[in-house]
Amino acid sequence: MKILITGIAGFIGFHAAKEFAARGWKVIGIDNFCDYYDVKLKRDRAALLEGLASVRETDICDIASLKALFDEESPDVVLNLAAQPGVRYSISHPFVYQKTNLEGFLNILECCRHAAKIPKLVYASSSSVYGGNVKMPFEESDPVDNPVSLYAATKKANELMAHTYSHLYGMQTIGLRFFTVYGAWYRPDMALSLFADAMLNDRPLKVFNNGNMKRDFTFVDDIVDGIVRTVEAANLPRYDIFNIGNHRSERLMDVIDVLADALGVKPKLEMLPMQPGDVPATFASVEKLHKAVGYEPKTTIREGIPVFAEWYRKYRGRD
Ligand SMILES: NC(=O)c1ccc[n+]([C@@H]2O[C@H](COP(=O)([O-])OP(=O)(O)OC[C@H]3O[C@@H](n4cnc5c(N)ncnc54)[C@H](O)[C@@H]3O)[C@@H](O)[C@H]2O)c1
Repeated sequence: MKILITGIAGFIGFHAAKEFAARGWKVIGIDNFCDYYDVKLKRDRAALLEGLASVRETDICDIASLKALFDEESPDVVLNLAAQPGVRYSISHPFVYQKTNLEGFLNILECCRHAAKIPKLVYASSSSVYGGNVKMPFEESDPVDNPVSLYAATKKANELMAHTYSHLYGMQTIGLRFFTVYGAWYRPDMALSLFADAMLNDRPLKVFNNGNMKRDFTFVDDIVDGIVRTVEAANLPRYDIFNIGNHRSERLMDVIDVLADALGVKPKLEMLPMQPGDVPATFASVEKLHKAVGYEPKTTIREGIPVFAEWYRKYRGRD
């Protein structure tokens, strides 16, 4: 079986590619290696995939190249992870989100629809679609009509676009709402990296909403396990949406303590107000994915954060 992973040089794409290759899948991947964050990190991940996956530099906004790739490779499954991520960046750079997350996603749907053998599409949505919902934990049946960032709005739009294509063309489309993923080979724009960088450089950590935040932190191996189960399941409906989180909502201040312990430092904190576009809390119900494919996240932050910290020290040359 052949899987096409978009955003393969990204944090989650890299881990997913390794796992699918280990399970005997033929893995093809594309990435545009954009400079939203350190391109060297993306190149280093891609280099580690040599021999495991065939990686090409292609943009999902380039419909002609994408169509040619679908014709040539005829994948059984498409795992769409390519996106412009980041809640805060969507406030300053809205049009990148329009381009990659809306137009690029439409290109993926069109290529799937017109493929000689229509592939199963599994794509990344996000916990951010829940906006400022206060009913916890977040369940897939909750209303998600009040996004508080353009990033969240594009992810919700992806779910609606996928629904239309499933309805009109009988394609199977499964959306996974990821909840704050972390681990080795992590993104430098996300909280744990920013905290680790500040801690190791003796700078104060910017702690938003005065630390009064909670996040469902999900270790990347658990996320990949959920992706693999979803991709390999034969019994899923034509269209569905699942949360994929850890089912533990952690206090930000506890997360900072665990990270400081793992790095062996005493952090300095700079307490700041809430950032526009951010939400105070996320908490995933994972019951639906558990029932559908047996998903069961295993990793607590006390187990997972030291894995991130060890990788971070080594990769950033601070060991
Ligand atoms: N990491 C998280 O906590 C998290 C949470 C919720 C949702 N998600 C979603 O999961 C997916 C993967 O996230 P990630 O953390 O691995 O991010 P990432 O930025 O590390 O990976 C995305 C990859 O897509 C590539 N890309 C961007 N635009 C592209 C384009 N136009 N064409 C081809 N490639 C392009 C990037 O170069 C990058 O390598 C994204 O869709 C993201 O929105 C992630």
